[in-house]
Amino acid sequence: MKTRLLTLALFLAVPTALAHGTLAAFFGGQIAETGDYRAEFAVRDGAIKVWVRDHDDKPVKASGKATLLLGGQKLDLPLSAKDDTLIAEAPVKSRDKLAAVLGLQVDGKPLSVRFMQSEVVAPATLSPQAEAGRKVFEAVCATCHGGALRGSDNGPPLLHPFYALGSAHGDDVILAAMNTGAKSHMWKFGDMPKPEGLKPGQDQDVLAYIRAMQAANGLGSAPAAAADPHAGHGHH
Ligand code: HEC
Repeated sequence: MKTRLLTLALFLAVPTALAHGTLAAFFGGQIAETGDYRAEFAVRDGAIKVWVRDHDDKPVKASGKATLLLGGQKLDLPLSAKDDTLIAEAPVKSRDKLAAVLGLQVDGKPLSVRFMQSEVVAPATLSPQAEAGRKVFEAVCATCHGGALRGSDNGPPLLHPFYALGSAHGDDVILAAMNTGAKSHMWKFGDMPKPEGLKPGQDQDVLAYIRAMQAANGLGSAPAAAADPHAGHGHH
């Protein structure tokens, strides 16, 4: 019986480890794989961002435009390059529902990729503890994790399978991040410093808020564990 379980664990570990090595989002966005390239796409408040990399995750020069479908509107936006990032300012929020079609030129070749995201849903009611946590989150965490928990240029989305209930980032890991910060290991944002201004007990309130937001946005339990690429999570 024991051997069987071990075999199963190894079997599950292989594809997820591969997925982590090849398809990690650097900046909390969605990834699309095409023939020779992968594109990462993220919606920030006031802009969309795109990163094009090769299959070794090396940045590749690209240019092009984005067509956004947003609340019945269609917007054609040129993308401008800043270092490794393609940016278009746009009247969007990271919480918005939208569809994007990117028409890119990469190494002189055309590349078309599509992305969609749904709207972030706020729970109809929050428990008093989660409501207290919401206020703390907005004051202390939102500058990096975004007011809609979809991330920002300073930190990753927390509405993400990596951090869902039942993932390798359990309650203990989330509480530890709030109390000590976190070393960079999932993304390319750098380390999370120990947050300033949290009073004793507020970590539990913020955790309740994060869990309520995840539940309202379809991030439940079991399947996330399999999707999480670093089972074991030795960093904590
Ligand atoms: C100065 C920016 C910043 C602030 C403020 C911040 N974080 Fe983070 N946080 C980050 C970054 C960057 C990471 C990504 C680390 C990595 O690469 O895994 C992160 C990671 C996390 C993780 C995952 C931790 C792990 O061990 O994998 C959790 C949970 C988290 N943050 C919650 C919070 C909460 C809750 C708050 C507010 C109390 C907060 N953060 C405030 C930047 C920030």
